[in-house]
Amino acid sequence: MSSFKSWRRAPENFLSAQTLEDIQRAGFDAQRRELVAKAFLAATASAAMVLGKSAWGASVAQEVLPAGARTTVGEDDPHILQLPPHTTHLGNPVAMRGYGLPSQYEGATLRRESPGLTKVRESSVAFTPLQNLFGIITPSGLHFERHHSGWSDIDPKHHRLMVHGLVKKPKVYTLDDLMRLPSVSRIHFLECGANTSMEWASPAVPTVQYTHGMLSCSEFTGVPLSVLLDDCGADLSQAQAVLAEGADGSSLTRSIPMDHALDDVLVAWGMNGEMLRPENGYPLRLVVPGVQGVSWVKWLRRLKLGDQKFATRDESIHYIDALPNGLYRQYSGIQECKSVITTPSGGQRLIEHGFYNITGLAWSGRGKIKRVDVSVDGGRNWQTAALQEPVLSKCLTRFNLPWRWNGERCILQSRAIDETGYVQPTYAALRAVRGSQSVYHNNAIQSWRLDATGEVLNVQVD
Ligand code: MTE
Repeated sequence: MSSFKSWRRAPENFLSAQTLEDIQRAGFDAQRRELVAKAFLAATASAAMVLGKSAWGASVAQEVLPAGARTTVGEDDPHILQLPPHTTHLGNPVAMRGYGLPSQYEGATLRRESPGLTKVRESSVAFTPLQNLFGIITPSGLHFERHHSGWSDIDPKHHRLMVHGLVKKPKVYTLDDLMRLPSVSRIHFLECGANTSMEWASPAVPTVQYTHGMLSCSEFTGVPLSVLLDDCGADLSQAQAVLAEGADGSSLTRSIPMDHALDDVLVAWGMNGEMLRPENGYPLRLVVPGVQGVSWVKWLRRLKLGDQKFATRDESIHYIDALPNGLYRQYSGIQECKSVITTPSGGQRLIEHGFYNITGLAWSGRGKIKRVDVSVDGGRNWQTAALQEPVLSKCLTRFNLPWRWNGERCILQSRAIDETGYVQPTYAALRAVRGSQSVYHNNAIQSWRLDATGEVLNVQVD
């Protein structure tokens, strides 16, 4: 007799629509923080299949098994002995859906907002459900969203990209013009500089979706920026930076240093084999491999070459790092080496003792992942995890470690090392240099505490 269900997904729909509305209206104060924590604990302990609401309204089926529950498959299992209708009747016809959708049974795998994180939903973030994904590619519909001023579905016929400044031939391109140029496709991660920002002082959010879900990875297709700059006759003797500007209400602007612009930056229209999704910049976005998400300007409409960084509002006072000496570090764009275990992770429950595959993701803005170590005793001992191919530069790398849980409380951690030799820091090491007042660029080792009950909780270990 084998066990059918040995672990349980994190409960994602544990807040009522009313509580979510209250938090959105009044903010995330101490009272509401406690309310959320209690609701989360109640959900992890509760029984039954609940038809919940996703964070902001859509009905989704979600399985919540009671603590210690176990569904076994026996010789008398009706699911073996009785033929279901789908085995005895014709199924649905081809092309019933012109564009395929996930199974109705996967409705809980959604991007979600963190309640109370922002005041308005147009300037907000929706996190990728890393805990439910496999491999390294993020399905386009689950790619995290971060907008400063909301998103629009822009008609590509009317969209233009201007290239000007220190160039001999300033040009305005249509999308068709750009798509005639030589293009490349490459797989890269995209991480917001604010990913894991809520965890700087102490563990704040329950699941990996909220601790690390401002992170996605896709195959992007576009024209290398170097080709465009060449086409416009860029003055490489003088140009030091390219200013990229978006066509949204925020007119977001970022300076891209020239050495990076000429290296692997793309002006992209494709994501995972199809056109970009509107939320992710359709019809054009900048792809700046290894650099924090804010530089990946969406709805890209202008590139200007200048003889120095442009020091715009979006880069001089935002996305900067508060240091312990009271100063701020600017232009710290590279996303340093980082990793996280996605299963087992916060909110999940291991129902049985025995074999589990510890799996997670590692990435570095400086190149390839060289090694990932996993600890099950809070960092005292480390084992080397297997890196799953492909292992690509500035790309998510999936790691796995087969493991046997003996039922004792333990602390699970992963520590990534990239090809430059940089080792992902502990919280103690990171805070010693950066303090704990920062918002951005938290790449500390994540700890998940697995209790004897099988519950997995977000904790911090120095
Ligand atoms: N580009 C424009 N024009 N407007 C924006 O609000 N947000 C930036 C960046 N590009 C933004 C933008 C930020 S902060 C991030 S992290 C990434 O886009 C997020 O990209 P995504 O929404 O495709 O995940």
